[in-house]
Amino acid sequence: MKGLVLSGGKGTRLRPITYTSAKQLVPVANKPVLFRVIEAIRDAGISDIGIVIGDTGDEIRAAVGTGRQWGVRITYIPQDAPLGLAHAVKISQEFIGDERFVMFLGDNCIQGGISPLIEQFGKSDYNAQIVLKKVADPRSFGVAELDDDGRIARLVEKPREPRSDLALVGIYMFDHHIFEAVNSIKPSPRGELEITDAIQWLVHTGRTVFPYLHEGWWIDTGKKDDMLEANRLILEEMPAANFGYVDRNSQVIGKVIIEAGAEVINSTIRGPAIIGEHTRILNSYIGPFTSIYHHCLVEESEIEHSIVLEHSSIRSLPHRLEDSLIGRNVEVARSPLKPKAYRLLLGDNSTVGML
Ligand code: G1P
Repeated sequence: MKGLVLSGGKGTRLRPITYTSAKQLVPVANKPVLFRVIEAIRDAGISDIGIVIGDTGDEIRAAVGTGRQWGVRITYIPQDAPLGLAHAVKISQEFIGDERFVMFLGDNCIQGGISPLIEQFGKSDYNAQIVLKKVADPRSFGVAELDDDGRIARLVEKPREPRSDLALVGIYMFDHHIFEAVNSIKPSPRGELEITDAIQWLVHTGRTVFPYLHEGWWIDTGKKDDMLEANRLILEEMPAANFGYVDRNSQVIGKVIIEAGAEVINSTIRGPAIIGEHTRILNSYIGPFTSIYHHCLVEESEIEHSIVLEHSSIRSLPHRLEDSLIGRNVEVARSPLKPKAYRLLLGDNSTVGML
């Protein structure tokens, strides 16, 4: 079996972070979501992986390379324009050949990986297998309607009035029939070739499409709050570890991971939390569900339920920082200048909540 990871898209809902960086490379629990996807595919025993890339292709190539660090072989498949997930399948036909494959959207996080799914699909003679998850509001996803026997009756992409609460998770397994499907469908109203329509075409033409109901958590990390939620869920599952330095005046409570070269001085860290390589925490409080990436500085500040990307500093804040996603090379600090005022240099589409 082969793997196909989709890592294009503009990440508009994560601006301004995605003006300078691919959304799939934003870290949760200090590891880019895309790396978690590659590891899930590798752990399911697949070593030949294609990655479809778009505008952010150079950055993805620089971060992932040949795949040797995971023991897999990566082939890059450039997509000229974001014409839809089914279009991505279309341009990947040469890479896939006649093999069965798993397609995994590079911004999806799923509990427990995909080994059970791959094993089930590998043993079966299904033409496709989709993954469904019950969600409270399915309107921003593909939605599946099942019949009384639990078979797929209909699949609809982002319906305004969903007729079930079963969302399509961004993990799909196919055999070669999918190529006939993606060549037969027409673009949707948003101008894209929808994978949902291609799967509906398989159902309609009598192919077997098996719906697998996923019981664990699943997050599509398109927005800040989804990133924070994925961060919370992954941190809760990680065991504590200390590869850095914690001084005697500090307290580390609960599940905390301190990565190599990190320093915690005169501070309290209450897990689950992770402190990245060569990051310094000084006279501060780091609360639950916080990930501080590498080469950061947190000084005289309190931060909780947040993600901070690399090379950023947070200093002397008068109030606790919460529910925040801080980008790369960002400085947040109290200013001694008079008159007392907020002084900001913010990128387009930034969001700031002030007291
Ligand atoms: C895509 C699919 C949708 C699926 C979702 C899962 O949506 O079109 O059917 O439910 O991924 O993440 P998109 O994220 O492209 O809007």
